[in-house]
Amino acid sequence: MDSVLKGKHIVLGITGGIAAYKSVTLLRLLVKAGAEVQVVITPAGKEFITPVTLSALSGKPVVSEFFTANTGEWHSHVDLGIWADLMVIAPATASTIGKMANGIADNMLVTTYLSAKEHVMIAPAMDLDMMAHPSTVRNLATLESYGVEIIEPAAGELASHLVGKGRMEEPENIFSRIEKYFLSQCDLKGKKVAITAGPTYEKLDPVRFIGNYSSGKMGFALAEECASRGADVTLVCGPVSLVTTNPNIVRVDVESAEEMLAAARQPFAEADFGIFAAAVADYRPEVRAQSKLKREGAEDMTLRLVRNPDIAATLAATKRDGQVFAGFALETDHEHENAFKKLHKKNLDMVVLNSLQDKGAGFGTDTNKITILSKDGTEKTFPLKSKRAVAADILDLMCSFK
Ligand code: C5P
Repeated sequence: MDSVLKGKHIVLGITGGIAAYKSVTLLRLLVKAGAEVQVVITPAGKEFITPVTLSALSGKPVVSEFFTANTGEWHSHVDLGIWADLMVIAPATASTIGKMANGIADNMLVTTYLSAKEHVMIAPAMDLDMMAHPSTVRNLATLESYGVEIIEPAAGELASHLVGKGRMEEPENIFSRIEKYFLSQCDLKGKKVAITAGPTYEKLDPVRFIGNYSSGKMGFALAEECASRGADVTLVCGPVSLVTTNPNIVRVDVESAEEMLAAARQPFAEADFGIFAAAVADYRPEVRAQSKLKREGAEDMTLRLVRNPDIAATLAATKRDGQVFAGFALETDHEHENAFKKLHKKNLDMVVLNSLQDKGAGFGTDTNKITILSKDGTEKTFPLKSKRAVAADILDLMCSFK
């Protein structure tokens, strides 16, 4: 069976402590389990372990500076922060812990931490007196309050030959904590999920259609996230240029809203979780011409459109007890009011609101910024994240309705 780490994106931060040599073992364990690891090292870290060893093992150039000296290539901590499913800093020195707790972003590692959208773990390593100093204790408490998971150092003989608390946890144990973290996210084993995604194309004639700019990225990210949590996923999608990678996803390609509804009926009837992420055309041409429409010298042309079925409203109308259905709303005005209306009108459990006013949110982007409105009247706003991380937030909330 594949490790839960397979395909996971992990940023491994290494700082300047003698325990840095143990990070090589951790890196090897992560890579062996199928994770993609990007090492970010502080300048002091390079005094303890060579970047060549780390890039050879991770298969990626190690990042340390903001720029590569000879090429001038910029390394984006923001991109790395969005890319990462998890950031682990091992060893974490008193200095790095202090910088993280106080936002002193003077190196690539701390800037990446400040940009990280997902879970962060640190494995402190330092001398016993440094570990016990009130400033370290306070900084660790601050980081904990920010949601950082602290992997407590063990007691034992330290590099200084003093004996006490400060020895970095063994790489095998850090690896287990990482596995445990990802396992705790896998809460969809044996569950069925149905998802609609992408645009619909409504044909005018054999060569033209009415469509929209939906890329399908959000729906596909949801499908991948559900499948990686062990669910059996049916993804009914309109015309998109995306591919699915997880074998737990059964993909059904359709073109029009009517085809989408027909293909979605059974999967949604059987699903534990249903997500309507498609941008369905509200109207279709009344007549679909059999041959190409001609200009015939006319200066204008009138198209008569008729209403398409509302797939979400149709399928959620017969929602059973225990089924949890979510829809999306992309609003320009009175966002909350309209989204709440939609929630009730379509009999959904939650509506994911993307605002066109938010940069990086909505169609075509790799990121999204959402607010989730739930049928119990609560709403939760999330920061800008990768669509995959947004998918995880949506699923975590859907699971809480079960
Ligand atoms: O009414 P509106 O289009 O804003 O609602 C958006 C939500 O309803 C989305 O979840 C979308 O997938 C779904 N929808 C649908 N069928 C339609 C229109 C919208 O499933 N015809």
